[in-house]
Amino acid sequence: MADPSLFSETVLQFLGPVRDYLEDDGVTEVMINGPGEIYIERKGQLIRTDRSFSGPDSLMAAIRNVGQFVGRGIDRDHPYMDARLPDGSRVHAIIPPCARRGPYMAIRRFSRHMLGIDDLVSRGSLTSPVAEFLKACVIARKNIVVSGGTGSGKTTLLNIISAFIPAEERILVIEDSSELQLRQSHVLPLESKKPDRQGQGEVTIRDLVTCSLRLRPDRIVIGECRGGEALDMLQAMNTGHAGSMTTCHANGPKDALSRLETMSLMSGIDLPLTAVRGQVASAIEVVVQINRFPDGSRRLIEVAEVLGLDASGNYQVVSLFAFDLQGKDAQTGQVRGQLRPTGHRPSFSRELELTGVDLPANIFTPPRRG
Ligand SMILES: Nc1ncnc2c1ncn2[C@@H]1O[C@H](COP(=O)(O)OP(=O)(O)OP(=O)(O)O)[C@@H](O)[C@H]1O
Ligand SMILES: [Mg+2]
Repeated sequence: MADPSLFSETVLQFLGPVRDYLEDDGVTEVMINGPGEIYIERKGQLIRTDRSFSGPDSLMAAIRNVGQFVGRGIDRDHPYMDARLPDGSRVHAIIPPCARRGPYMAIRRFSRHMLGIDDLVSRGSLTSPVAEFLKACVIARKNIVVSGGTGSGKTTLLNIISAFIPAEERILVIEDSSELQLRQSHVLPLESKKPDRQGQGEVTIRDLVTCSLRLRPDRIVIGECRGGEALDMLQAMNTGHAGSMTTCHANGPKDALSRLETMSLMSGIDLPLTAVRGQVASAIEVVVQINRFPDGSRRLIEVAEVLGLDASGNYQVVSLFAFDLQGKDAQTGQVRGQLRPTGHRPSFSRELELTGVDLPANIFTPPRRG
C-alpha cells in the first residue's frame, strides 16, 4: 500500500516505473537521468536499474504531475523545480533546454528512522569515545561546523549532535527545506522561502538568521551555510549564542574555514579580509569532517580544533582525531580503518570535564603501534 503522504495515487501512477522504489524503505534516493537511465541508492551504493520510462513525454508527464501535486509549475521558461513532499522527501527536477539528455529528476526519500548516534557508532562512522567527545563539546557550548562533500552525511550528523543540546535551552533551527528533527521541547524551526515567478517574496537563510536573533535564541542551528548568512552566523556565535552549529560543503577543516570566509565576503558588507578571518577563527571552535567512501560508508575522517590565527594571519587548526585508513577488504570491498586520537588534547579539555560526560581517561592518547 502506498504511503498517502508521499504522493497521491495519481502521481504514483505516473511514476509507475520507479513506484516500488519510492515505497521501499531500503532505497534512499531515486535518480532519473532521462527516460532510459534510472539509478537508485541502496545502502549507500549507487545502483543502475533496468527500469525506464516509455519516452521523454511520459517522464515529462510524471514531472508535471509531481509539480502539480506540490503546487509548482515547470516549463521551458522555468525549467527546474525544487520541492519538498508532505512526508519530508526532497524532489529536484530539471528539464530541457537546461537538461541536455531529457528531463532529469532526483528524489531523496525521507528516512522515517533518522539515524542516531548509536547507529553511527555501530556502522563504524565514528567511535564511541568520539561520540562522547562530541556530546561533551555540545554541552560545553562549543561552536561546531560539520564539513563534507555532497551526500556525505552532514545533515544526518548535525541532527545527531544537535540532539545533545540540553532540553531546557531555546533553539532556533534555520533551513532551506526542513530536514532536521530536533526532539527537544523548546525548538522553533524556520524555513526559507523561494521567490514567486515575479521574483517577489523571497526569504533567505540570511533573513532568517537576522530574525532568529530577535527571538532570543540560546542556540542557533543552521542546516547549511551557503552564502552571506555565514557572516551573521559567525557574529551570532561570537556574541552570546555560543554552542551554535551548522554544516558546510568543504574537503577538510581548513577548507571549511576558508569557505566560511569566502561566504562571509559574499554578504556584501565591506569588511577587510583580516577582520573576516578574525571572526571565523574566533567563532568556530570545532570542525568535524565527514566523508563518503567508495564502499558507500560515511565516516568521520577528522575532528579538529580551531585555535585562532597565527602571526601571519593563517588559521591554526589541530587535529584531535584522524581516520587511519588501513586499506580495503579484498572480498567485500569495504574500507578498513579507524578514527584515532592524534595525541593533541583540546585546549578546552577542562571545560569538557565540567559537562559531566564521562570521557575515557585515555581518550586523547594515541594507541601504541605494535
Ligand atoms: N553515517 C552514515 N552511515 C550511513 N549512511 C548515512 C550516514 N549518514 C548519512 N547517511 C545517509 O546518506 C544520505 C545522505 O545523508 P545527508 O542528507 O545527511 O548528507 P548531506 O551531506 O547532508 O547531503 P547534502 O550534500 O545533499 O546536503 C542519506 O540517505 C542518509 O541516510
Ligand atoms: Mg545536507
